[in-house]
Amino acid sequence: MQIHQHAQPLREQVAEWKAQGDCIAFVPTMGNLHDGHLSLVEAARREQTDSNVRTIVSIFVNPMQFGENEDFDTYPRTLEDDTRKLQQLGVDMLYIPNIGDIYPDGVDAATRVVPPAALGDILEGESRPGFFTGVATVVNKLFNIVRPDIACFGEKDFQQLLVIRRMVADLAMPVAIISAPIAREADGLAMSSRNRYLSDAERADAGKFNLCLQHLVSEVQQGADSQYAVMHASQELENHGFVVDYVVIRRQQDLAVPEPGDTKLVALAAVWLGKTRLIDNMCFEINK
Ligand code: PAJ
Repeated sequence: MQIHQHAQPLREQVAEWKAQGDCIAFVPTMGNLHDGHLSLVEAARREQTDSNVRTIVSIFVNPMQFGENEDFDTYPRTLEDDTRKLQQLGVDMLYIPNIGDIYPDGVDAATRVVPPAALGDILEGESRPGFFTGVATVVNKLFNIVRPDIACFGEKDFQQLLVIRRMVADLAMPVAIISAPIAREADGLAMSSRNRYLSDAERADAGKFNLCLQHLVSEVQQGADSQYAVMHASQELENHGFVVDYVVIRRQQDLAVPEPGDTKLVALAAVWLGKTRLIDNMCFEINK
C-alpha cells in the first residue's frame, strides 16, 4: 500500500492508474477505523466490475468541521492501527494529507462550500453550526486532489450523505456517489469512532438507542400518528438515561417534513449519553 502525505506524488500515481483505464474509488475518513469504514472500501470495490478498481482511503481529522467546544483535540488518532487494517484489506493507497495540502493559508482563510440551508442548517447542522460547510469544503478539496471516479459514504451519517450528493449534483462534479448500510455492533449500536468515549456502564446501555428507534419505526409503520410516535420515542429514550437532542421522521430524499402521500421516510435521532453524542437513523417505507 502506498502512503502519501502530499498531493503531487498522489496526483501522478492516480494519473498513471487512470491512463491504464483503472477505476479510482475513494473513501474519505477521519481515521480510528472500524468495520463500518472498512465496509465502505468493500462497497466501492463491488460497485465496479468491468475495470480494475484502485482503492484510495484518506485519513484527515478536519478542523473546519469541528465546533469550538467539540472534540477536535481529543478525537481518537490511531494511525498505526488504521494503516495495518487498510493494508490487510488490500487498499492501494492511503492519503494522510498534511494540513498545508488542505488549508494552505489556514482554515479561516479558506474558500468554503456552503450547502443550502434547507439541508445544511437543520438537524445536525442546527446542533453543530458550520459542520456541513466544513464537511462539504474538505470533501470538495479531497475530490479535487484525488479525482476519484466513485466515492463511498456511510448511511450512518445520512444527512452528510445527502449533503455530499447535493454538492456533487449542484456543482456538476464528475464523481459517482455510492452509499453503504450502517455497520452495527451486536446490540444494534451503530459503529462510531466516538463510541470509545463511552464508559463501560454507558456502553452497556447504548444499544437501547437503536432499540428505541426500531420501536419508533414500527409504531409509524403500524399507522400511529408520527408526532405522537416521536414524543413516545423521546420519552422512552429519556427513561433509558439518554438526553435527546432531536428525534424526527423526515422524507428520505431531502429530509423535509413528510407530506401526505410520502412513503419513503427516515427516522433520525441524536442523543447524549453522558458526555458522548450519538447519532443513528433508520430508513423505512409506509403504505400510501
Ligand atoms: P468518519 O466519521 O471517519 O466517517 C467516514 C465515513 O465512514 C463516512 O462516510 C461515514 O458515514 C462512514 N461510517 C462511519 N461509521 C459507519 C458505520 N457504522 N457504518 C457505515 N458507515 C460508517 O464522516 C466523516 O468521517 C467526515 O465527515 C468526512 C466525510 C471524512 C469529512 O471529513
